[in-house]
Amino acid sequence: MGGTPMKVFVTGASGFIGEALTSRLLASEGLAVGGIDLVPAAKPRTAAFDFIQADLASLRPGQRNQLREKIEQADVVIHLAAESYVHDSYDAPERYVQNNIAATFQLLEIIRVSSPVRLIHVSTCEVYGNTGLTAATELSMVRPLSPYAATKLSGEALSSAYASSYQIPTTIVRPFNLYGPGQQSNRLIPRTIARVRDGQALHVSGDGRQVRDWTYVADAVELFIRIAHTISAEPTLEVVNLSSGRGTSVNEILRMIANAAGRKPALRWSDEHAGSLRTSVGANHKATKKYGWSPRVCLEEGIERTVRLSRGRDA
Ligand SMILES: NC(=O)c1ccc[n+]([C@@H]2O[C@H](COP(=O)([O-])OP(=O)(O)OC[C@H]3O[C@@H](n4cnc5c(N)ncnc54)[C@H](O)[C@@H]3O)[C@@H](O)[C@H]2O)c1
Repeated sequence: MGGTPMKVFVTGASGFIGEALTSRLLASEGLAVGGIDLVPAAKPRTAAFDFIQADLASLRPGQRNQLREKIEQADVVIHLAAESYVHDSYDAPERYVQNNIAATFQLLEIIRVSSPVRLIHVSTCEVYGNTGLTAATELSMVRPLSPYAATKLSGEALSSAYASSYQIPTTIVRPFNLYGPGQQSNRLIPRTIARVRDGQALHVSGDGRQVRDWTYVADAVELFIRIAHTISAEPTLEVVNLSSGRGTSVNEILRMIANAAGRKPALRWSDEHAGSLRTSVGANHKATKKYGWSPRVCLEEGIERTVRLSRGRDA
């Protein structure tokens, strides 16, 4: 980026990852950041943080022009905006189509006429479906199981088609499970922390042996920033996993949280949610090789930090 400070525009800027990413860009990186979200941002709008509150899926003409101006000034767009909860996608699939597909389409249409901006499209590991115990690589087959996963894969497909058709340099990132302070309070780790603190029993969905691959949010933010600094101005299309490469069962997570909080909660078992993956583990060799990235915060330490720092937020 030729020595001049990079300008980054973040969609979904008020969300769990958007908040952590924009805070880091503004504070440690000292960059000017633009953002959009349906809901207000936690930080005030300033000269350095140029925030628009709007629905990407149904922009009014004034908002579309405003967004186009912001994107024209940006070097990189990091697209995080989405409906992001697997279980809710069964109750409100239309909302997922709207916010994960239509919103992505609207953004791409603006990027198409605002080139030469580069795009980092944040997808999800859910596109792989069950990975089995062999970690999924970026070349593994995609087999989405839930409406959430299907809408995220559709969003990826749109970005990939726009990258090829309109020469938009694009990197699709597939994060596995992320966690840390500020995460939505209905997700496994913050929900468990709150229940353990309140002395309530923990609800285990199914047998608790479902395996997930966890990365601390600050490590995820680090990878997005490394990609933003290195994404080529040449038309390219990359897919990269964001993962620890290590599988951990839900039962182990519950034990780690209870240990970190110094409590011994009672357990109650319930039926497994539809569309829950049994095993989801991702290989991170590509992120390591291409961006020199590997997670620095191990799960035990990340859980301890989250128990100590997290207040959670309403979903
Ligand atoms: N958190 C994880 O573990 C995880 C894992 C894999 C992938 N991801 C992906 O990362 C991204 C961010 O996830 P998150 O955990 O921060 O979720 P989040 O729900 O906290 O944030 C998403 C943000 O997008 C906004 N949004 C939704 N629809 C919008 C629209 N039409 N217009 C404008 N804003 C809109 C929401 O208001 C919300 O603030 C999502 O794309 C998600 O699919 C997250």
